[in-house]
Amino acid sequence: MERVALYTGPSPAETVGRPATGPAARTLRRAAARVLADNWTGASTVPSRTLYPHQWSWDSAFVAIGLRHLSAHRAQRELESLFAAQWADGRIPHIVFNPAVPADAYFPSPDFWRSSAAGRAAGAPAAPETSGIVQPPVHALAAWLVHRADPAESRRRGFLARAYPRLTAWHDYLLTRRDLGGGGLAAAVHPWEPGTDNSPCWDAALGRIEPAPAETFRRADLAHGHPHDRPTDLDYGRYVRLAGDYRTAGYDDRAARHAFAVEDPCFNALLAVGEHALAAAARTLGRDDTRHLARAEALTRSLVTRLWDADAGLFRARDLGTGSTGSTGSTGSTGTPVGERAVTGLVPLIVPGLPPAVVRALRRTLAGPGFAAPGTRLVPSYDLTGHAFDPQRYWRGPAWFNTAWLIHRGLRTHALHADAEHLRHGFLAEAGRSHFAEYVDPLTGTPHGARRFSWTAALTLDLLHAPEDRPFPH
Ligand code: SER
Repeated sequence: MERVALYTGPSPAETVGRPATGPAARTLRRAAARVLADNWTGASTVPSRTLYPHQWSWDSAFVAIGLRHLSAHRAQRELESLFAAQWADGRIPHIVFNPAVPADAYFPSPDFWRSSAAGRAAGAPAAPETSGIVQPPVHALAAWLVHRADPAESRRRGFLARAYPRLTAWHDYLLTRRDLGGGGLAAAVHPWEPGTDNSPCWDAALGRIEPAPAETFRRADLAHGHPHDRPTDLDYGRYVRLAGDYRTAGYDDRAARHAFAVEDPCFNALLAVGEHALAAAARTLGRDDTRHLARAEALTRSLVTRLWDADAGLFRARDLGTGSTGSTGSTGSTGTPVGERAVTGLVPLIVPGLPPAVVRALRRTLAGPGFAAPGTRLVPSYDLTGHAFDPQRYWRGPAWFNTAWLIHRGLRTHALHADAEHLRHGFLAEAGRSHFAEYVDPLTGTPHGARRFSWTAALTLDLLHAPEDRPFPH
């Protein structure tokens, strides 16, 4: 494996608002660009050649954010290839399958999801084959940042003008069909949807699900990932049951009775930020931004009303219970707050316009014993002092680079520049040291999961560049 020099960089005070320069930064930039070149398939980027050999939804959004520094054109194509798989009901599927990849390379494969047949009534395209669930809506933010990287190229190709209606339809889907709790937030109906598959946040809700029998499916992830780094077989049995039941309901949110339905703070914060991005896009395209600004404000209010926990100092997910359906718009179920403390409860720092007391509390929590990991300066995915903390197993403790990037942006959004620089330096050091690992032990930096992982490389490129001064210039 190629050696990547440890990024030691200049001190935080020297780099605020300026791109990182010097030999270590140049080596890191070159190595990150090589990962993205090797993982590029011609129209999009696989998260990992081994563990994730297709196109993933939120991965592509993060990848585009980094790719824009190498080629705005390629970053646009990354998002466009994802948008081409959008369903007629507005959903952007979490996986777009590459027909050239053997069926047994990844599970669940296209013949499990059967989107073009089972999802036809819900609006799945005839091709390509996709999954039937979604992932966090980072796409509007990504499209806006990609546009801003090269507005002339974006105009020449009509990138923003073509992306805008697709992104609006995507958000419409989430805010109508997926407002299962009726409180103005989008619900996730499978633990793969918030992107944090085996987070302890989902343990109680998943405990109610009868797992699919082990002999009815065959995992492919363990051929490439260490069993201690990955979710358990019991988790997989439940993932399979939930996805299979959704498929049986034709992926129709009006008909499906969801046995798992949760409101996730990270997912909904990204939706709010996405509405700010769409407002900026609307202005650039000479359209009215009022609807997006109103939605951003309403989402921010609902996030705080429904998910903020002042005593815990972070946002908590909400479990809507069983039987949630979109048939009448919602069950009206207010649900119950999830007792676990996870990084997804800190990511809403990315939302502009949060009450100042919430920003102050989030900053305190970030610096406190649950989430400050001095060994790496990264943010663990789950409370370091929590009963279920595991430094190695996927979303049960390891530090991930996408959540660090989001929190970094949140710190900058609220002008907490010194904290942002501290995190940025931790990010760059661990990304290089771990060969762009999928995630690392937050206490030691030991890499876990895939190596040469695309979003880690892409977001490294982004953090090596000068941050924007204002998140959403008017
Ligand atoms: N994260 C899931 C996996 O591990 C799918 O999105 O395959």
